[in-house]
Amino acid sequence: MKNWQKKWEKAVLLVAEVEHIPVMLETALDLLALKEGCTYVDCTLGGGGHAGEILRRIGPRGRLIGFDKDGKALERIKDVLAPYLDRVTLVKCDFRHLAVVLKKLGVIQVDGILFDLGVSAYQLLDPERGFSYNYDAPLDMRMDEGSQTTAKDLVNSLSERELADIIFRYGEEKWARRIARFIVERRESAPITTTHQLVEIIKDAIPAAARRKGPHPARRTFQALRIAVNDELAGIEEGIRAGIPFLSAGGRIVVITFHSLEDRIVKNIFREYAGASILQIITKKPLVPSPAECRQNPRARSAKLRAAEKLPSIM
Ligand SMILES: C[S@@+](CC[C@H](N)C(=O)[O-])C[C@H]1O[C@@H](n2cnc3c(N)ncnc32)[C@H](O)[C@@H]1O
Repeated sequence: MKNWQKKWEKAVLLVAEVEHIPVMLETALDLLALKEGCTYVDCTLGGGGHAGEILRRIGPRGRLIGFDKDGKALERIKDVLAPYLDRVTLVKCDFRHLAVVLKKLGVIQVDGILFDLGVSAYQLLDPERGFSYNYDAPLDMRMDEGSQTTAKDLVNSLSERELADIIFRYGEEKWARRIARFIVERRESAPITTTHQLVEIIKDAIPAAARRKGPHPARRTFQALRIAVNDELAGIEEGIRAGIPFLSAGGRIVVITFHSLEDRIVKNIFREYAGASILQIITKKPLVPSPAECRQNPRARSAKLRAAEKLPSIM
């Protein structure tokens, strides 16, 4: 790659980092088949990129119910969605409780549900939250700051075997066993409390030649711990299953994932409901962002989008 190309890539990365750019926005909203005056659920409000555009397109009689379990995200979203607040219900809650919340709100049916999984740029960039190996911060990684378990708890209490399993399974890290061993050895002298302490341990565990190739050596381990801290995979399974019964006939569910395990969960649930004639799968294969979107927004690179439509009940 030429020098100017490297500089350009770096500049693009910086812009994408300071602002959360919604991933596959047009594709997701097209597949939701938004209609004016209808009701939609955004399970992952984040920076409000998808939510704002949904609200703009469904007009003054449309309604959006938005979830996020991150209190800071919800505070920020009030400003982002300020022009639409009369037709938005913001819920600070894990989307796995979607059914309970919709019932409490008296909502019987919705016309579309969107999940855009993972973390937002705001979470990654918040130097206090511990999601990023780029900032030295307390080892936290909780999306919901009121929840019990932090990354520090896991790193300092799980057995070597449990740590290796998490790092291997959720991070697809081939050096998982060595990293787990190094963590357990280091914590014997003092607890591991910060992101940069963990980064140093990971760097020590991965041989120098392997560290020079591919992404940042801590990337996979940080991703794995984040998934474990937030119990993300179980949440996705429960959230999608909770949402499908609320879809009206012809209503759409759209899910954007960033990890092969997440995508597999979505694929299997859609297949199961298609087999029971409850859903019709719209995306036979997952859709991915265009090369242009990936260049503009590096976070989009691992995105996969699946969509399905609720079939009319045969009873
Ligand atoms: C990738 S961001 C969403 C970005 C958003 N679509 C946008 O355009 O700005 C994911 C958001 O979902 C939230 N989230 C992830 N898992 C969640 C869960 N199980 N329940 C509620 N919110 C969740 C995170 O806190 C984060 O703010």
